[in-house]
This record gives sequence, structure tokens and C-alpha cells, in this order.
Amino acid sequence: MALMENRPKVTVVGTGMVGGTVAQLMAQRDYVDIVMIDIVEGLPQGKALDLRETGPVMGYDTYLLGSNDYADAAGSDIVVITSGIPRKPGMSRDDLLKVNKGILTSVTSEIAKVAPNAILIVVSNPLDAMCHVALDVSGFPRERVLGMAGVLDSARFRSFIAEELEVSVEDVSAFVLGGHGDTMVPLARYSTVAGIPLPDLMDEETIACLQTRTANGGAEVVALLKTGSAYYAPAASVCEMIDSILLDKKRILPVSVHLQGEYGVDNLYVGVPVKLGRSGLEKVIEIKLTDDESAALKKSAAAVQDLVDAMANLE
Ligand code: NAI
Ligand code: 2OP
Repeated sequence: MALMENRPKVTVVGTGMVGGTVAQLMAQRDYVDIVMIDIVEGLPQGKALDLRETGPVMGYDTYLLGSNDYADAAGSDIVVITSGIPRKPGMSRDDLLKVNKGILTSVTSEIAKVAPNAILIVVSNPLDAMCHVALDVSGFPRERVLGMAGVLDSARFRSFIAEELEVSVEDVSAFVLGGHGDTMVPLARYSTVAGIPLPDLMDEETIACLQTRTANGGAEVVALLKTGSAYYAPAASVCEMIDSILLDKKRILPVSVHLQGEYGVDNLYVGVPVKLGRSGLEKVIEIKLTDDESAALKKSAAAVQDLVDAMANLE
């Protein structure tokens, strides 16, 4: 058995906690083949072998190939980039800027050579800034360079809302806009439980608490884990994006995309609702914001712009 020619090919670069979990969850879906690439020798090979050996128990035929060679990513339909270092306690995502910029640059240039038609899903932090690196280095159109953050941030908001109201997460939908940082904007008005807007179900103070917890959701997990950052929910969020693209589901999901005037933001990666289909970004959905929401989104975009400016000044 080897990679199947007729299955879509997903490559995961960086096979640590997030990358390994993406591979595991995608393997269980049983409709793609997976290439796992890392700079550490043996790590992707070992995880790929372990996951192949899981197939008989879980009932999937997904083939997983572990490699340190980008040639194996040739012709990938999707490349998920998780390579980099994660946050340690007390570190902000921005502290990761310099190291991960270098890693993103080398990874993206290798991928662009072997998989020029791939859709890139960037995960490495600081997320929105790393998307700029991937866009610039790959030379791909914005439709094929996407950042995963909004699905995760919205999932956190959804889980906190469900816990607070003691209802099923299945009935809760939520939108978190803006950059993947402390200034992200969890939108109460567009968050609903079985279609009922959140402000009809909770008082303002409770909503504010859940919004703050969402904005600090990544740091909350880091503080508990102590040796790294979240990976189960991030990996599941990546897989939701992959499904929407490869199965052409055209889901409306919050994704970090290169805005070109939408929401009054130009030439900047910021999380907004988009339609995701087989071509990647198929449409930016512009929702009407109140003055306060719009100001919060602008503030969040300004924080991303600061990072992008700081990155431009790095050697
Ligand atoms: P990890 O440390 O477990 O895995 C990172 C992997 O990247 C390691 O296996 C490492 O060997 C590999 N790597 C480093 N340099 C490389 C290179 N040049 N080429 C190929 N592989 C390389 O980290 P984890 O927890 O998987 O997180 C990965 C990244 O994702 C971090 O930057 C983290 O902050 C970010 N993250 C972003 C989220 C988001 O919402 N956008 C959510 C969770 C994590
Ligand atoms: C998170 O939000 C670390 O950005 C990552 O969990």
C-alpha cells in the first residue's frame, strides 16, 4: 500500500502536537492521504507509522507517509503549516514572531516549489503575521493562503456559552472576528443558541466574562499545560476547514484572510467570515457591524498591523 492516487493529498508540515493531531483526525475521516513532514528526523516517520497501525483498529485505509523531504509533498491539494515553536507560559504569541518568521519563510518556499497549486492553511503563531509571510513567499493568490484561528476562537466561545447555559454545544453558533490575539472580537449579536441571539439569553456582564475568557482562551490552556499550547481544538478546527475545502461544502467559517478593502481594512490578514470551498476562499462575507463592533475590529486590525510592521523591521 502507498499513497492512493485518487485521494486528495494533504500535507502537514510540523508534526508536533497540532500537526500530529491534524494527521490523526484527518486519517480517521478516511478520504485523504497524508504526508507528514518535520525537520526532526524520525518524528514524522514514527508518527505516520503509528497512525497507519491505528487504521485496522479504527477502520480507516488512509495512508500516511512520514518524511523530512519536501519532494514527498509534491502535488498536495492542501498544505497545513504548523511548523514553529509554540508559546511557553508567560510568552505572548508575538514573542514567537522572529523564530517562526524564519521557519515559515523556509517551509513556504519549499512547499511553493513542489506544490504550486496547493491551498495553504497556516497555523503557526503569531497567526495573522505568519499568513503574510506565507502569502509573500509563496506568491499564491489570497484565495489559497488562509489562516486558522477564527474557527478555534469561535469554538472556545461556543463551548463557554454552552457550559454557561447548560445546553448542547450543537445548538450554539458563534463568530469571533479580528486578529488571533488578545484584541480578538467575540461578537455577541451574531452568536446564537438555536437561532436565539445571545443578548436575549444572558445579561451583559455574563457575556463580557465569556468574551474575555475567549480572548484569553489560548493563554488559559498554556498556563495549565506549562510545556506547550492547545492542540486538540486547534487541530479539530483545521480539519473543519479542510473538509469544507476538499468536500466543497462551502461552509461559512471565520478565517484569517488577506483583506483587500473589505471591512475598511486593506492589505492585512484579519479574521472574518468567509465561504470556504474547493477553490479555497470563495467569498468574504461582510456583515453589518455596530459602531462599537466596528471600532473593536479596527483596534484588532491595528494590533495585527503593528506585528506586520515589526516583522518588516526584523533582520
Ligand atoms: P510543537 O512544538 O508540538 O510542533 C511544532 C513542530 O514544528 C515540531 O515538531 C518541530 O520539530 C517542527 N518544526 C520546527 N521547525 C521546523 C522547520 N523548519 N521545518 C519543519 N518542521 C519544523 O508545536 P504545536 O503545539 O504543534 O504548535 C505549532 C504552532 O502552531 C505554534 O507556532 C503554535 O503557537 C501554533 N498554534 C496556533 C494556533 C492557532 O490558533 N492558529 C493554535 C495552536 C497552536
Ligand atoms: C491558541 O490559541 C496557542 O494560539 C494558540 O491556543
